[in-house]
Amino acid sequence: MNQPTPTRTPEVTIPALRDLNWPDLYAQLNEEGVAVTPQLLSREQCQEIIGTYDEPGLFRSTVVMQRYNFGRGTYKYYADPAAVPLVRALREKLYPPMAWMANQWAPQLGERTFPPTLDELIAECADNGQRRPTPLLLNYHQGDYACLHQDIYGDIVFPLQIAVMLNRPGEHFTGGENVFVEQRPRFQSRALVVKPQLGQGMIFPVRHRPVHGRNGYRRHPMRHGTNAVETGRRTTLGVIFHNAR
Ligand SMILES: [Fe+2]
Repeated sequence: MNQPTPTRTPEVTIPALRDLNWPDLYAQLNEEGVAVTPQLLSREQCQEIIGTYDEPGLFRSTVVMQRYNFGRGTYKYYADPAAVPLVRALREKLYPPMAWMANQWAPQLGERTFPPTLDELIAECADNGQRRPTPLLLNYHQGDYACLHQDIYGDIVFPLQIAVMLNRPGEHFTGGENVFVEQRPRFQSRALVVKPQLGQGMIFPVRHRPVHGRNGYRRHPMRHGTNAVETGRRTTLGVIFHNAR
């Protein structure tokens, strides 16, 4: 008997991923606490991801931030990031080099290392009750903002995440800068404002980063948020690698 051919979402290519200089990004991450990539996605690819926002079937939940005092604005978690080929490709292909960075941090933070593929991390999350996908699309209009926070979601925490800017700052929106605050033990906290261009990604720590001091490495807790959007619409894709409980 003939079996129906399983439908597969088409493979997508993201040429810019091949050209990323990971040692450079790792150096930038350690220097600044945040690494900004060259443009990862074309304008058309950004538009394609923004377009998914209006397809309710693709999302497992919608969070209206003001209901929880998270800030103001709305974000949606993808039900199955694999259903959106670009999101799947980004999460799968960015994971191995980010695991390479995370595994260099591991002994500096006194923490665990991570498997080389996303599938293995996702399987481990599932074994620990973290089965809900975490990639999300954040949609902010005039006056919307995000309070400083961390994206933890369970006991298994992959230490780095990436957010990709899908709009063109200055043209599609103004304001809405990304804000990072690094808590430096025994010193004053440091704020960092990052303004990625369309298609660029920001790689940053989920909860802390190692910083070398006089007595070896110390953990610097980091939180991130978004300054209020002044005009227009600002959409970003957040890729967190561990799943949620
Ligand atoms: Fe976040």
